[in-house]
Amino acid sequence: MPATPAPVLPGEPILGSLRALQRDPFAVLSRATLEYSPWVRLKVLGTEIFVPGDAAVFEHVLVTNVRNFDKQLRSYQLLRNIVGYGLVTSDGDFWKRQRRTAQPAFHRERIAAFGEIMSRASTEMVDGFVMGTPFDVAASFNHVALKLVGQTILSNDVTSSASRVEPAMRVALEHLVRRSLDPLSAPEWVPTSKNRAFRQAIEELDRVVNGVISARRAGTETRKDLLAMLMEARDPETGEGMTDVQLRDEVMTIFLAGHETTATALAWTAMLIAQHPEVEAALVEELDRVLGGRSPGMQDVANLTYTGMVLKESMRLYPPVWSLGRRVVEDEVVAGVLLPKNTQIFLCPYAMHRHPKYWKDPERFDPLRWAPGAPPPTKGTYLPFNIGQRKCIGDVFATIEAQIILATLYQRVHLTLVADRPVQTEALLTLRPANGVWVTPSPR
Ligand code: HEM
Repeated sequence: MPATPAPVLPGEPILGSLRALQRDPFAVLSRATLEYSPWVRLKVLGTEIFVPGDAAVFEHVLVTNVRNFDKQLRSYQLLRNIVGYGLVTSDGDFWKRQRRTAQPAFHRERIAAFGEIMSRASTEMVDGFVMGTPFDVAASFNHVALKLVGQTILSNDVTSSASRVEPAMRVALEHLVRRSLDPLSAPEWVPTSKNRAFRQAIEELDRVVNGVISARRAGTETRKDLLAMLMEARDPETGEGMTDVQLRDEVMTIFLAGHETTATALAWTAMLIAQHPEVEAALVEELDRVLGGRSPGMQDVANLTYTGMVLKESMRLYPPVWSLGRRVVEDEVVAGVLLPKNTQIFLCPYAMHRHPKYWKDPERFDPLRWAPGAPPPTKGTYLPFNIGQRKCIGDVFATIEAQIILATLYQRVHLTLVADRPVQTEALLTLRPANGVWVTPSPR
């Protein structure tokens, strides 16, 4: 069958969708995904971006022919300025080797060793709530997730340097998002105030991470954290370990990929639970039944079925990674449309997760969709952790962590949303609540 051109999303003359994308990429990509199938083209100045609106195309790009869709895009290039060539930003043979080497550190049995750290950090978080006093629970999740990722990668409590790491990460990420949306922004080497602030943020992050790596190389004590696992890891095919630069890039990657994602997933979950008392009641019933008043730990996770369902459904409605960008490596006809080599593709999991063609009552928050024995979703329609070979390496880590945090929290506390602080979405690198999720805690 000859290839047909994909329709073009209406935009302005010459600029096309540029200004709409700069203003609200989330709205543009969601609309493109929901209103067109299998493909729509977005004109952006002289270039084109292809957006798929069909589950089979998602499956094709991310799983079946994943080799033809890499990450050689400006947005990943910008990310490389922060994390170098870590797992998220690398491609091809280099990525394959790093993934093979790092994979064992993320096996369930290895992560089980972190259960106690996760339980302790969750309990400390809840202990810190002041009953009756409104606060931003999204900020608490951010803090605990950063602390956990720090403790599990680097053992030492990076929250003591969190006052340095958190704002530096934020400056770096905001700079990156701004630049990725603005092709006309000044190149990195121009000493604008924003570029200078970015440089300083990276230097700060480097100081923390490189400091830990060199102390570790010099020291003799053995640890059981992720960094130790990555330092010991050997490529099963070549027997080679990672260099200091590779270690730095992977540590920075895990910091970046593993903290805000989990924190935002939890923040949306807390908002949804507060809005759905029947879900909260079922959740509390499970916690009482499974835990019988004990603090939750690693051994309980397998029995917290409903807690897991709530999390899955929350990540359907609010996937922290709301879009995925890819580049076409070689010309290919996909679903009848020619994708020319080097074309950019943007997939929007957020919109696919709410697509009425694939989901019954898509806007409804219904954890029972994920009940044991319920029919699985259509392939390519549920991808909070991505699908295929580039699937999140931390998915088990994140799920266990989130389940332990949710169980610890809802076993002890009820959260009521603060009425005059409505939750708003902000789609930067992750989909997050713009001004947090303000709640008032009360004891259960
Ligand atoms: C709810 C929490 C999380 C979500 C929603 C999430 C989501 C994702 C997604 C969608 C990707 C694919 C990105 C792409 O293909 O461009 C990814 C990759 C990745 N994630 Fe996660 N993630 C989470 C937690 C974590 C945690 C806790 C860690 C580490 C401890 C982690 C480490 C990584 C790494 C290293 C990759 C790159 C994998 C590769 O390409 O080989 N993530 N994650």
